[in-house]
Amino acid sequence: MVYGDTRYYDKLHRMLVEKIIKEKPEFVLNVGDMVENGNDIRYWNNFLML
Ligand SMILES: [Fe+2]
Repeated sequence: MVYGDTRYYDKLHRMLVEKIIKEKPEFVLNVGDMVENGNDIRYWNNFLML
């Protein structure tokens, strides 16, 4: 499974991850951009709290 550009769409990202889990993929690759600003810890905290 390959996906990306989740950026600041946290709720949409959560929904997408839940659907990916249901598919039971052998491998998942997020090609980025994972967060809007990688230098700001707040974005990573939101991303990692999925
Ligand atoms: Fe992008």
